[in-house]
Amino acid sequence: MSKIVILTGAGISAESGLGTFRDEGGLWAQHRIEDVATPEGFARDPDLVHEFYNAQRAQSRAANPNAAHFALAKLQKEHRGDIVLVTQNVDRLHEAAGDQDVCHMHGFLDGALCSSCDTRWPAPLVMSTTQQCPSCNAQTTRPDIVWFGEMPYHMETIYHHLSEADLFVAIGKSGNVYPAAGFVQEAVLSGADTLELNFEASATISQFAQAEFGKASEFVPTWVETILK
Ligand code: APR
Repeated sequence: MSKIVILTGAGISAESGLGTFRDEGGLWAQHRIEDVATPEGFARDPDLVHEFYNAQRAQSRAANPNAAHFALAKLQKEHRGDIVLVTQNVDRLHEAAGDQDVCHMHGFLDGALCSSCDTRWPAPLVMSTTQQCPSCNAQTTRPDIVWFGEMPYHMETIYHHLSEADLFVAIGKSGNVYPAAGFVQEAVLSGADTLELNFEASATISQFAQAEFGKASEFVPTWVETILK
């Protein structure tokens, strides 16, 4: 198992107090995706979108990583092969735990993006429509988040790593959102072993060779010890 590609979802941050999207009472039960997670929603009501991500950003900055995040940092440090860490999460908990080179395929709450010239800069805690781009001065600043209908980041790099993986592991994701939900199939096609670690069976469970269910803060450290041993 020299090259391991790991994909994490909202479930890995749940025990740090950050709500998931589709669990009972989750974010998508409280907010309409069309309103806060689409370019059309942003065009219609940018203040509403900023309000939504300002609240996410404040929670993310106040949250602490849990044992699952720390265990992945240990794996990155001690595993003699390659560990590639891809996340759908936009929070900063992987980095706060010391995880290196985290590939945020859905963007980052702590990033700001100019919709006019694509300039990126660190996001202030509270973003608004009056913020100007430091490069072109346009007032078209948006959170650097990939919305529905937009292409996720780093896809070529991710597919390259999947094509070389010996093991693909999905942690804390429901398997409802593509292209991430299709990574297991890519891994299988390249001959990799596959493992799902989740609270319950995901929508793509049938495509995984192995699975374990429970809380990320419990099973990720145990799994990491097994790999390192
Ligand atoms: N430990 C492990 N898994 C957990 C835990 C936990 N403590 N708590 C919840 N889970 C699991 C749930 O069982 C569920 O399968 O995490 C998963 C969370 O699923 P979603 O809320 O759908 O989150 P995710 O799969 O990351 O969503 C994908 O959808 O809304 C978009 O862009 C957003 O990146 C996000 C994408």
